[in-house]
Amino acid sequence: MRIAIVYDSRTGTTKAAAEEMAKMAADAGHEATVTSVQEASPGEVSSADAVCVGSWTEGLFFILQHATKATMAFIDSLTLDGTPAAVFCTYKTSPGKMLDKMAAALEARGARVTGRFRSRGPHAPEGFGDWLRTLAGA
Ligand SMILES: Cc1cc2nc3c(=O)[nH]c(=O)nc-3n(C[C@H](O)[C@H](O)[C@H](O)COP(=O)(O)O)c2cc1C
Repeated sequence: MRIAIVYDSRTGTTKAAAEEMAKMAADAGHEATVTSVQEASPGEVSSADAVCVGSWTEGLFFILQHATKATMAFIDSLTLDGTPAAVFCTYKTSPGKMLDKMAAALEARGARVTGRFRSRGPHAPEGFGDWLRTLAGA
């Protein structure tokens, strides 16, 4: 499957996590692309077989956490039709409800969100490997 992984990263943590995720997807036999939200093409991402969108956590560390504006604007630029999707974030203290909000926004664009993942550092989040295994046709 063609899996588009898109991320927003300020200091490189989320980028590194996304790159490790892309490697895991490639190792599982998928064709994975990994692109920042600043550079990704909404059309190309919309035509992928599965989509994964990640952001660093922005907020007041314990409250008011949210995905970045660029992440949410990118999600809003997608046109999906039942595409399996996952959301992820990197964080330091707590991501609050941001993953649910990202998932709801992706679903509003037509995605079927089947994974929500968090990582405290520059690594693929726990559970991502299991999510990959839910995708048919590697
Ligand atoms: C302005 C700012 C606000 C942040 N707010 C939160 C927060 O509310 N909760 C949290 O867990 N981490 C918060 N963080 C930590 C980052 O989300 C975390 O370090 C992330 O992994 C950075 O990813 P990046 O290196 O891809 O930019 C904040 C960081 C910054 C710079």
